[in-house]
Amino acid sequence: MSESTALTEHATPVERLLPPRTDSGSAAVHLDAARLSFGERTLWQELDLDVRPGEFVAVLGPNGSGKTSLLKVLLGQLGLSSGTADIAGAPARAGNPDIGYVPQQKTIDSGVQLRGVDLVGLGVDGHRWGLGLRGRAARKRKVTAAIADVGAEKFAYAPLESMSGGEQQRLRVAQALVGDPKVLLCDEPLLSLDLANQRLVSELIDRRRHTHNTAVLFVTHEINPILPLVDRVLYLMDGKFRLGTPEEVMTSAVLSELYQTEVDVLRVRGRLVVVGTGDTMDALGAAGAQHCHGAVPFGGTAPSDTDIESRGVRS
Ligand SMILES: Nc1ncnc2c1ncn2[C@@H]1O[C@H](COP(=O)(O)OP(=O)(O)OP(=O)(O)O)[C@@H](O)[C@H]1O
Ligand SMILES: [Mg+2]
Repeated sequence: MSESTALTEHATPVERLLPPRTDSGSAAVHLDAARLSFGERTLWQELDLDVRPGEFVAVLGPNGSGKTSLLKVLLGQLGLSSGTADIAGAPARAGNPDIGYVPQQKTIDSGVQLRGVDLVGLGVDGHRWGLGLRGRAARKRKVTAAIADVGAEKFAYAPLESMSGGEQQRLRVAQALVGDPKVLLCDEPLLSLDLANQRLVSELIDRRRHTHNTAVLFVTHEINPILPLVDRVLYLMDGKFRLGTPEEVMTSAVLSELYQTEVDVLRVRGRLVVVGTGDTMDALGAAGAQHCHGAVPFGGTAPSDTDIESRGVRS
């Protein structure tokens, strides 16, 4: 038996708000006994995961735990070592139009003459629209609507290199959504965005999954900006994983077990703060957006209204 366990046996209040459970055939993403190893090293194994249409799953874990590799498996760019991966009922494969993908953010290099509107256009599947006049008109309508959806009308015709990181990211989201995918895979889409743009981008994605029933897998090192949106967390760590609602996974007991050392999870004004020591904190990164070394949270500020979740006790 694997140490990895799913913690979703009983429906929580959050889960009761979700679309009804699907059988695996109608899941947007279905992983069955999935294992990914490189040589001797196993990133994750015995991973069973059904992501329902419209569900928002955050994928957390330290650097190198296999988050991006998981997305690559679903994108058909990387094969599983064992088990199966299906997207909307069919085996994962490269070039799948059912998937929209927001890759890890790269600043567009100067010298690239692409405009925002061109980037979004790249997300439209050419076969579906053809080259005829009608096809071109439909394609243009789709691109214009996608740009409007992310509120990028004002800068979409400017060169990408002239845009801020937040503006570029909005257009990447538009590119991922323009083909109306059933599954949206986002790899650290909030990286290097300020708080206002973090909110804007996460709300765009959240709105989409509600209006179009798009399933979302959202890789992030910081859960706090998306905490109110997350239905379930998949936490990858050193060959193991935990899967459940944030309330189930983001606890002192679960993280201490995953990291094999003492970790405290504090809940402060609706945010999670992860407190550990030394190397653990380096590995934890920003599982909680704020963290500290040792026992003094918030750089010494006494958390008067802190609800400290003690080990093994759920709030
Ligand atoms: N094709 C490959 N061959 C061998 N090792 C690989 C390959 N792809 C990824 N790896 C290794 O697998 C591990 C997981 O990589 P991955 O990019 O999935 O991590 P991650 O969780 O996304 O990390 P980060 O938070 O740094 O983005 C890394 O140690 C990486 O070097
Ligand atoms: Mg990665």
